[in-house]
Amino acid sequence: MIITYNPQSEEKGFWLIPSEEKEQVSFHDLKINSDIFSGKANTNYTLALNDSVYIFIGLGDKLTYKSIKTAFRRFAHQNKAIKTNDLKIDLSRLDDHLHVEAAISGLMLGTYDLGHFKVDKKKHAFLNQDFTIELNIDNTFQSTVEKALKIAKNQLDTFDCVDLPAHVVTPIHLAEKAKSLEKNVKISVKVFDRQEAEKIGLHSFLAVAKGSENEPQFITITYRNPLAKKHMGLVGKAITFDTGGYNIKTQGMVHMKCDMAGGATALGAMQLIADLDLNINVTAIIPACENRIDGKAFLPSDVINSYSGKTIEIIDTDAEGRLVLADGISYLLKHHKPDVMIDVATLTGSAVATFGDVCAASFTNNEELASQVKNIGESIGEKSWPLPLWDEYKSQMDSDIADIKNLATKPTAGAITAAKFLEFFVENHPAWMHLDIAGVSFVDDEFAKTKHASAWGVHLLAKLAESI
Ligand code: BES
Ligand code: ZN
Ligand code: ZN
Repeated sequence: MIITYNPQSEEKGFWLIPSEEKEQVSFHDLKINSDIFSGKANTNYTLALNDSVYIFIGLGDKLTYKSIKTAFRRFAHQNKAIKTNDLKIDLSRLDDHLHVEAAISGLMLGTYDLGHFKVDKKKHAFLNQDFTIELNIDNTFQSTVEKALKIAKNQLDTFDCVDLPAHVVTPIHLAEKAKSLEKNVKISVKVFDRQEAEKIGLHSFLAVAKGSENEPQFITITYRNPLAKKHMGLVGKAITFDTGGYNIKTQGMVHMKCDMAGGATALGAMQLIADLDLNINVTAIIPACENRIDGKAFLPSDVINSYSGKTIEIIDTDAEGRLVLADGISYLLKHHKPDVMIDVATLTGSAVATFGDVCAASFTNNEELASQVKNIGESIGEKSWPLPLWDEYKSQMDSDIADIKNLATKPTAGAITAAKFLEFFVENHPAWMHLDIAGVSFVDDEFAKTKHASAWGVHLLAKLAESI
């Protein structure tokens, strides 16, 4: 089969054209001395012979989804200016569908260009109109390859969304992106602006939005499949920029364009679920606004209301994510009654301090959901690790003046006390999970000089939707 990418086409993405019988390039006659190249992970070997250049990619002997994806992403990333239009890739030694998926997804992710604003932007060679990749792979992998391309396309979209700065990715930008999903007939989108949100009482969401001139957007995306047996609810934190508000950030503010990564993850997962036409109903709530400062901004010591009717004492305006999530969760529960509810958010520095960029912090009241998310995450390199929701942590969120306060008394266990705050709005829903993705969604790695988006969770949530 041949993968072609046509930049002229309306539809952004890669797709497959079945090949007529083509002569396969065989590598098996080429003998490489193992002292020179043994196939160790993170190595490669280039050989020019006759009129061809052969590049051997070492995958090592411990194949994981992530190691394969990274190796192929690296190949594409490093060959942005490759001087050929017809690349042949031999994947015949991969016999596991997930491994093939990882290789193809990685290859496509390697075309990502972070230089959105560069004047002299050079398009990746793979994206040239007449560029083709011919895969040497058994035809039984056709649907796997198609799926891998859909996964990568939505991850690339999520990269754009998180990496672009806050003057581009405003709440309205996110709402427009959400509305564009309606081209799939199974998706509908509803958006409340500031006035509509006020009318229905999204007070906690609006308290955060008060300090910004950018119109807040409370976005609901629904995907309905008539064959669905289950309903999954998502809530994604989308603070398009987090200055901290009056508790202004003194460190790391420059990275806070990533504070909408939870919302971008929910959006990306929705697109992917729709692209894969999964037999499930999904509702995603994306409360999108900015946390800024001006004369109207909320203050520490304010007491605010919420959609649930519960009152909240504001201790710190930088603990804003939980405020928009609280209203997102209450709204989702009241109007959509999902069987399973997952919120995803760049919520705390504490999750970063605990797990770094290796895994997300997960919190749940449901054992089955815990093992599903853990196992799926391990199979695709999007790991999470559980932290407890013990009641000993709840008393730290008790307020004298209101029903709850937005920051714990002690400066310890921040990721857990934030989760306890959210739990207060979950109304004993039996299958809720909170994923704190502050450490994993915006990362330092070999693919850029600065921190950038990872699209962590897009694939995980779609795969979860496939299995519940
Ligand atoms: N958006 C931040 C959390 C964050 C930290 C995201 C690092 C990505 C990387 C969140 O709104 C925040 O400011 N949390 C504070 C809470 C503080 C007031 C205790 C934090 O965790 O530092
Ligand atoms: Zn904050
Ligand atoms: Zn935040």
